[in-house]
Amino acid sequence: MAETKKATVICLGQVVTDHTFRVEEAELPPSKVTARGYHRVVGGMAANAAIAVARLGGRAVFWGRVGADEAGEELRDALTAEGVDAEGLLLAKGARTPLSAVIVDKRGERSIVTYRGEGLPTDPGRLPLELIEEADSLLCDPRWPEGAEAAFRRAQERGVPSAMDAEKSEARILHALVPLTDHAIFAKTGLSIFHSGKPEEGLARALKAGPLKLAAVTLGEHGTLWMTPEMEKPATQPAFPVDATNTTGAGDVFHGAFALAIGEGMETEAALRFASAAGALRARDGETPDRAAVDKLLEGTTDRPRVRHRRKS
Ligand SMILES: Nc1ncnc2c1ncn2[C@@H]1O[C@H](COP(=O)(O)OP(=O)(O)OP(=O)(O)O)[C@@H](O)[C@H]1O
Ligand SMILES: [Mg+2]
Repeated sequence: MAETKKATVICLGQVVTDHTFRVEEAELPPSKVTARGYHRVVGGMAANAAIAVARLGGRAVFWGRVGADEAGEELRDALTAEGVDAEGLLLAKGARTPLSAVIVDKRGERSIVTYRGEGLPTDPGRLPLELIEEADSLLCDPRWPEGAEAAFRRAQERGVPSAMDAEKSEARILHALVPLTDHAIFAKTGLSIFHSGKPEEGLARALKAGPLKLAAVTLGEHGTLWMTPEMEKPATQPAFPVDATNTTGAGDVFHGAFALAIGEGMETEAALRFASAAGALRARDGETPDRAAVDKLLEGTTDRPRVRHRRKS
C-alpha cells in the first residue's frame, strides 16, 4: 500500500497549564466550592489545536512561548509526548508560564480564569518562518500577536493556506490579524469584540477586511455560522448532537481539525463538517478524538454528503 504523506500544520500561539476542577455547580463569584475531581493537562488554543492535528493524523508543529520554569518544561514534554514537534517552543529565562483554572460543572459547561504569564518575549525574530513554505497550512490564535502577524504574512506571500482562531482578545489585535489570514473563525465573544453589531454583519465585515476565503463563528452546540465572499448571507453548519461532558477545548480542537482539513485539500464546507465532528467528540468525551472516531461520526450521518479526503501523495 502506498504511504500517504501526512499534512504538516504549524500551530502558533497559546500554551498553558490547565488546572481543571470538576464541580457540581460553578457558584461564581464569592463562593467556596469543593471539587469532586482535579487534573492538570496541556491547554491553550494553539496547543490543543496542535494535539488535535497529531491525533487526527497530521504532522503538528507548535510555535509558542513559556517561561524557563518547571511548568514550561512540563508543557514542552507533554506536547512532545502527544507527538507534536515542540522544537519551536521558546522557554524564556525570567518569564512565567501561563496557566488557567478551569471549572467544569456537572453539565460539562466550563468557566476559565487565565493568567497569561509574565515576561514572555514578543519578538518573532527567532521563529523559523521559512518552515511555513513547506507546511500545508498554518493556524494562529491571537495570544502572540507579533508571532501571528509574521507567520500569517509569510503564509500569505507563499500561498500557504491559513486559519485564525479569532478568540476573545483586544479589538486592535483582532483587527490587525483577521485581514492577514484566509479563514477567520471567531469564537462568539471574539466576533462581538471585532464588530458590535449582529454576527452576520461581523462576518461580512471580516470578509471585506482582507482577501479572506471564509469568515465563521462557532456557537457551541448551536453549530457554526459561516460565510464566503460568494455568499449573500451566512449558512449554518449544525453541531453534531452529543451529550457533552466537558466543553473545554472544543473550539481549539475544531480549529486544529479545520486547519488540518484545509492542509489536506478539503473544500471549505467539508472542512467545517470535519471540524464540527472533531469538536463535538471533544465536548462529548472531554478528550481529543482520533481520526477513526471522527470518520465514524461523519459516516453515521448518511443524510448529508460524505467528506472527500484529498490527501497529498
Ligand atoms: N456541546 C456541544 N455539542 C456538539 N458540538 C459542540 C459542542 N460544543 C462545541 N461543539 C463544536 O465545537 C465548535 C466550537 O465550540 P465553541 O463554539 O464552544 O468554541 P469556543 O467558544 O471557542 O470554546 P473553547 O475555545 O473553550 O473550546 C462548535 O461550533 C461545535 O461544532
Ligand atoms: Mg475557543
